[in-house]
Amino acid sequence: MAGSQNKKGSSGRSYRGNAGLTNKVQKKRGLSASSRRWIERQINDPFVAEARSRGFRSRAALKLEQINSKYQLFKKGQTVLDLGSAPGGWLQIVSDIIGLDEGNGRLAGIDLLDVEPVAGALILKGDINDNAKLDELIAYIGGKADWVISDMAADTTGHRATDHIRTTALLEMALDTAMRVLIPGGGFLAKCFQGGAEKSTLTTLRQGFEQVRHVKPDASRAESVEIYVLATGFKGVPENYLMLEH
Ligand SMILES: C[S@@+](CC[C@H](N)C(=O)[O-])C[C@H]1O[C@@H](n2cnc3c(N)ncnc32)[C@H](O)[C@@H]1O
Repeated sequence: MAGSQNKKGSSGRSYRGNAGLTNKVQKKRGLSASSRRWIERQINDPFVAEARSRGFRSRAALKLEQINSKYQLFKKGQTVLDLGSAPGGWLQIVSDIIGLDEGNGRLAGIDLLDVEPVAGALILKGDINDNAKLDELIAYIGGKADWVISDMAADTTGHRATDHIRTTALLEMALDTAMRVLIPGGGFLAKCFQGGAEKSTLTTLRQGFEQVRHVKPDASRAESVEIYVLATGFKGVPENYLMLEH
């Protein structure tokens, strides 16, 4: 059984899969069953423990680290736009690789939620659909980026089709932003919930980039419909692509 096998964390440490849950949260009044399950998953999740012990703000940081170590996305001195940044795990990873604290590269991010500052990065609080915010981000990076990365996800409703459509709309917005700012040869990495509606976005990606892959890092829960699309070698905006109203 997959869940009871030993696996290796990004740090190389072995751990038991999630089915080997050991810590249980006691039933308490006021705590719903789903909240209790969420807490149990958090306290038993080896990636949560690893992220915390390494000083990352989120377990999502490990997903990006794993994708980067397999595909070598980022290089020192590059310009990166991070959409859906809170609490800031991806910003930490990118800042480190591009050498932001030594004055190399450029990094800008945006989220609906507050994000603790990251030295040298511009982080806006707001909605990616807000034109004024988007313009501010684009101006900060001088209109050009080597990478647009998006981990944006809408709050889940529990209704799978609704969640899929809402997250796919964010994927479209992220891709539209990428089309505006990527330099030739640039790359795009974005969260995607599998479910059908993302197909037209994938068609656009295949037209606009040399290579499009689906990646699922170990730190992405196996039971989740989440995957990441990784598109590299930006060729330019496809002829039939309609930019979103801006
Ligand atoms: C999975 S979290 C991102 C985690 C982050 N990559 C990290 O490493 O810490 C998804 C984020 O997307 C943000 N988000 C969702 N819709 C958004 C929107 N329309 N504009 C900006 N951010 C949005 C949410 O507020 C949430 O913080």
